[in-house]
Amino acid sequence: MTVNAATRSSKKLNTRTLKADHAGIAEAARIIAAGGLVAFATETVYGLGADATNAQAVARLYEAKGRPSFNPLIAHLANADDVRRAGVLNDVARKLAKKFWPGPLTLVLQAAENCPVCELARAGLPTVAVRVPAHETAHALLTAASRPIVAPSANRSGHVSPTVAAHVLADLDGRIDLILDAGPTRVGLESTIVDCSGAQPRMLRPGSITREEIEQVLGMPVQDLSDAVSQKPIAPGQLASHYATRARIRLNATDVKPGEALLAFGGTVPSGADPARTRNLSPSGDLIEAAANLFAHLRALDALGPDAIAVSPIPATGVGEAIGDRLARAAAPR
Ligand code: TXA
Ligand code: MG
Repeated sequence: MTVNAATRSSKKLNTRTLKADHAGIAEAARIIAAGGLVAFATETVYGLGADATNAQAVARLYEAKGRPSFNPLIAHLANADDVRRAGVLNDVARKLAKKFWPGPLTLVLQAAENCPVCELARAGLPTVAVRVPAHETAHALLTAASRPIVAPSANRSGHVSPTVAAHVLADLDGRIDLILDAGPTRVGLESTIVDCSGAQPRMLRPGSITREEIEQVLGMPVQDLSDAVSQKPIAPGQLASHYATRARIRLNATDVKPGEALLAFGGTVPSGADPARTRNLSPSGDLIEAAANLFAHLRALDALGPDAIAVSPIPATGVGEAIGDRLARAAAPR
């Protein structure tokens, strides 16, 4: 099977479209399990799906969307039992889940211990966004793949969300493996997002489930942060403080100073580097591999307690832009 041929090598390869019938779902589940990218219908908009447990697949997803930064992604799950393995459902979350799932509601939860959703998909956050979609295609795919699937809207970064398969094709042809065509989506607007990770529930994004409905179920007011989020096109998860390492970060380093650890990229590692204090994001210079390794390597180097982490130059092309964005935040003065 030529999974990822499209995303990996060539813009000439066209993306296949299949009907979202039994055979289509089975093929889609195979591609997801092999680390590929599949666009599928949910009741809100078409999502671009990847195996949430596979950092390489998630890195390919960011690359295909052309996202300049690692926004945290929503993990889609087949049912509330699967959600419990990913995140901690407090009282508020349980009430909302019972009332609105399956459906167009996303909950931000404290990530569970051993959360299967990889760190790259969570953008390094201690929280995880989860949703149990109501669309039968989404549900069938999640069941067949039997793993959480992250799915941002299936459009190029900065474009509007797709509500029919043709929109997906127009944006992502040649960049993803498969589109499952299930006709137009019902809601046409991304899910409502409620942050249940803290003491007070907060609304992060409005959607077809309204704040009034949510307040009625909870019997308490819900703070509305959606304005703040939309005026500042920075997801809460992207604030610089979330990315802080203990060690300072020194970018574009071509040498390693005493007391520094090295986050290398590519085949030429600077002289003076101590192998015990070096992690290479991708010895072969593959940006997708580098993105998949970024959070784990940063964490591992930081745990060694260096004064600073010197970071080799990384090209700002493709997903390299998001890697640079992440590193610049980590390097920002604080
Ligand atoms: O309706 C939808 O939700 C669609 C369909 C495909 O399910 N998906 C979607 O995903 O709209 P996306 O990636 O376009 O939007 C995800 C939003 C972003 O605004 C992101 O900042 C927020 O969810 N988000 C994800 N994880 C978060 C977290 N841990 N904390 C706060 N916000 C989070
Ligand atoms: Mg989107």
